[in-house]
Amino acid sequence: MKGKVEILFGAQWGDEGKGKVVDTMGAGVDVFVRYQGGANAGHTVIADGKKIIFKLLPSGMLYPGKLCVIGNGVVLDPEQFLKEIKELGDRGQDRARLVVSPHAHVVMPYHKIFDKAQEAFRGKGHMIGTTGRGIGPCYVDKYARSGLRVEDLLDESRLREKLSVILEEKNRLLTKVYGENPLPLNEVYEPAREWGKALLHYVEDTTALLHDAVDEGKSILLEGAQGTLLDIDHGTYPYVTSSSTTTAGGFTGTGLPLTSVTRVIAVVKAYTTRVGEGPMPTEDKGDVGTRLREKGGEFGSITGRPRRCGWLDMMALRYSMRLNGGGTIALTKLDVLSGLGEIKVCTAYELNGTKVERFTAPLALEECRPVYETLPGWDEDISGCAEFGALPGAARNYVRYIEEAAGAPVSLIGVGADRNQTINRGF
Ligand code: IMP
Repeated sequence: MKGKVEILFGAQWGDEGKGKVVDTMGAGVDVFVRYQGGANAGHTVIADGKKIIFKLLPSGMLYPGKLCVIGNGVVLDPEQFLKEIKELGDRGQDRARLVVSPHAHVVMPYHKIFDKAQEAFRGKGHMIGTTGRGIGPCYVDKYARSGLRVEDLLDESRLREKLSVILEEKNRLLTKVYGENPLPLNEVYEPAREWGKALLHYVEDTTALLHDAVDEGKSILLEGAQGTLLDIDHGTYPYVTSSSTTTAGGFTGTGLPLTSVTRVIAVVKAYTTRVGEGPMPTEDKGDVGTRLREKGGEFGSITGRPRRCGWLDMMALRYSMRLNGGGTIALTKLDVLSGLGEIKVCTAYELNGTKVERFTAPLALEECRPVYETLPGWDEDISGCAEFGALPGAARNYVRYIEEAAGAPVSLIGVGADRNQTINRGF
């Protein structure tokens, strides 16, 4: 029998709580896969009261005997990769087997310099608000066919030769365009050679491994990073990340075919957040936004930046469900809405006096004002609720409203940060 391939995506602007959902599913999954993005992600898992943030490694690392895969679509920052492994090892938590695709591109030190220098170049009003992790410049090199892949780190003479050609160009750009210091070949080559030695142990043909896992009837989980509205094609361009964050990215980023997918899981936060620049129609700069930020702990797990907060945007959610192929919804952080009084949901936009009922192209989105419907709120603390029936009527009503509007069942509900604070409705 063929294996199960489940793909999980963030339905908003990232930070939906994907790490916790992956962790909740952990026991039933054999293979955890990251397929796009890099160390710009921050998947927070709370296990046994301890907080762990996975930036690059798949969230399944805590499970003994499981396989964790970094697919070819990821941009791998070797420094961060080795740091995360060491930290897990020091705590005795590196329990899974980890493999890395030889075709994943490597985030090099110059990518991080370019990331920051280009943001400064764009300046106020035009900057994207990147995480500064070198993600964009690394993907640029991938598509310009001048990137280094993990396999290039493994062969010292090839690495040196390739780097000398790459640095020739990078150093001209660094010095002549961005006014930065040039990077001497040895300063880049020596650490890269060491990374190669450390990585060697993890490199395997991940595409073949995943094809075999499907044939062997294994359960595979493709763990998307960031969120749909940050997708390079379908997001709020140019205020996006540089990878395909929609489910489509799962196929190019692993080599698994479209037809292998058996279930799509949308992770949806019960309200909206965004970090970085770009349009966000439901952003609330007043009291509600502040309360959501404080109660929800909405500060970037990578950069510590306060997240922009606001009510749930059903226009964006419906768009996201259509783009990704719907699926079942894991609703996170419902407990954060307790005690907020009435709850609002954005059901349409108003653009230049006209009502718009479809998620709008990014350029017009800047001008869109949210049209809200108001739903009753609840005051009870729901963080101890273990069943749907135990939730206050207004909370159940909110969940049903989302199901109706998104056209998909809400089968998992997060009511607190811990792994156990989850209501399962046939997930
Ligand atoms: P980059 O991915 O560092 O290039 O950043 C591009 C945009 O994506 C910025 O607005 C970031 O704040 C945002 N971004 C990148 N990764 C994440 C994430 O994991 N969660 C939320 N936002 C992210």
